[in-house]
Amino acid sequence: MYYPDELVEEVRSRSDIVDVIGSYVKLQKKGSTYFGLCPFHNEKTPSFSVTPAKQMYYCFGCGAGGNVITFLMEYENYTFREALETLAERAGVELPKGEENAEARRQADLRARILEVNREAGRYFYYQLKGPGGKRAFEYLAGRGLSEETIKRFGLGYSNMYSDDLYRYLKKKGYPDELLKESGLVKIEERGAHDRFWNRVMFPIMDVNGKIIGFGGRVMGEGEPKYLNSPETRVFDKSRNLYGLNYARTARKPYLLLCEGYMDVISMHQAGFTNAVASLGTAFTPGHGNLLHRYTEQVVLTYDSDNAGVKAALRAIPILKEAGISAKVLSLKPYKDPDEFIKALGAEAFEERIRGAKNSFLFETDVLYSQYDMNDPEQKTGFHNALANRLLQFTERLERENYMEAAARQYQIDYDSLKSLVNAMGGRAGTLRPPVKERRSLEEKKGKPDGVKQSQRLLLTWLIEDERVYQTVKEILSPEDFTEELYRRTAKMVYEGLETGNLSPAGILNHFINDEDEYKEVAALFNTSLSELTKEEREKAFSETVKRVKRHSLEEKLRNVTDISLLQKLMKEQRALNELHISLN
Ligand code: UTP
Ligand code: MN
Repeated sequence: MYYPDELVEEVRSRSDIVDVIGSYVKLQKKGSTYFGLCPFHNEKTPSFSVTPAKQMYYCFGCGAGGNVITFLMEYENYTFREALETLAERAGVELPKGEENAEARRQADLRARILEVNREAGRYFYYQLKGPGGKRAFEYLAGRGLSEETIKRFGLGYSNMYSDDLYRYLKKKGYPDELLKESGLVKIEERGAHDRFWNRVMFPIMDVNGKIIGFGGRVMGEGEPKYLNSPETRVFDKSRNLYGLNYARTARKPYLLLCEGYMDVISMHQAGFTNAVASLGTAFTPGHGNLLHRYTEQVVLTYDSDNAGVKAALRAIPILKEAGISAKVLSLKPYKDPDEFIKALGAEAFEERIRGAKNSFLFETDVLYSQYDMNDPEQKTGFHNALANRLLQFTERLERENYMEAAARQYQIDYDSLKSLVNAMGGRAGTLRPPVKERRSLEEKKGKPDGVKQSQRLLLTWLIEDERVYQTVKEILSPEDFTEELYRRTAKMVYEGLETGNLSPAGILNHFINDEDEYKEVAALFNTSLSELTKEEREKAFSETVKRVKRHSLEEKLRNVTDISLLQKLMKEQRALNELHISLN
């Protein structure tokens, strides 16, 4: 369903951003701006700002920014449509009910209803655990060292011995079969309905907002499967959710702990490591990586110490790296997993292991090392070659040297020998740069000189911040002079707003909402502060900036011009530009 721009803008303009964000984030007024702790990254001092005049938010720490619609998209993980519909309802704006729209609403309703069923089921399991029938399950959890407080915090429960008890309970509450089937909690077959979970301790799985999206159930003692999980449903996507993240994201630590299991997360949280999360009985995916990157740039891997855990860590490291997260690997030896480690040695020893966690590159090379027999000269050489080859991934010279030094120390190799091996290999490969990142840097090189881009950006910020400069700027520059495509589109809208006297940064942002990178960049543009400059500096900077943008635009035109009279005209403009005196006043 496509909503017309005017309607989107109406919903946006009738949703006050301070009201909306204020219901999620504690905000404090400072001058004309509100500040709070950024919900999109971990921080101790508030750098998240909400500006009523612009109807925009912006975080000076992590660069998250946008308008009221993008806030809901980011915070609630909503699609554009969901965000818009939520705000429309809140603001009392009627949205058209087209065919497609009815379908979308049906889907959204269904999701909400499944969440409701899950919540009911979670409650039911919890009361079963607390009731007389749950004695054995409660003892099982207590026997694993969980306190009552922890059980409550994670909403643990028990699915009892009867094979359709939950089904009947939910039916009595009035939920239809079709919905219960969709929730994955019951199977409805010809012979009758059956609960999926049966005589297991239950772990509700929550999304970042604490809504129950699925369950894991563990047998008490031995049995197959050890853990049974909800199937993927309309609300449960295993590759996009992490167990424990609803709590971990508010832990306000600079890194997150990533582990394999439900019990590991719970044990760590109970021991005070509330920044622990786990992927849900599946391998770590790029979806997980992106989700984590919203909250942190550093992860300490606390996977099981067995072979499977090492393999899983080796797979997770590049995925994390790709998502922009640097990883360290913690050793749990001689214990199997964080749960066992903490039970055996306690929180302090665990903290010690976090401090000693290994850089992910050295972890990878350690694994490599273990595959060679160092008493055999041929194998030893093989290891050295493989190591040198891996060191080539560091394209920055200093970084590479640091790693060579660390590796030389770790594996007792002569530094100079290792260095010359690496260099020789790099030379043979023709270059020290691996091809991976090449495309991007080439594009960057090909692109406009950064200074010009900066100037265009600065000028747009200026136009938004100080509407008086428009009179001067419009005489010299048209939106077409902004050679950066994104800035040109923005400039068109900014000019139009200034021309008609109703400039709305948050409204302009609506036009970029379909592309996260774009709206973030435009949001940043609208929230850059100019105030550090003195009056004289501003005057000088303003003149230089305008000229630079114009000069670049003329150069671009000149490069493509074929018509001689146009050429002359452009050159004349170029000369005039040099003489031009531009002043803010
Ligand atoms: P583990 O087998 O390492 O179990 O599985 P664990 O976490 O140590 O569990 P406890 O301590 O014996 O209770 C790690 C994770 O893999 C998923 C679960 O998410 C589990 O926490 N898993 C494991 C399943 O989904 N199904 C299984 O049968 C086993
Ligand atoms: Mn375990």
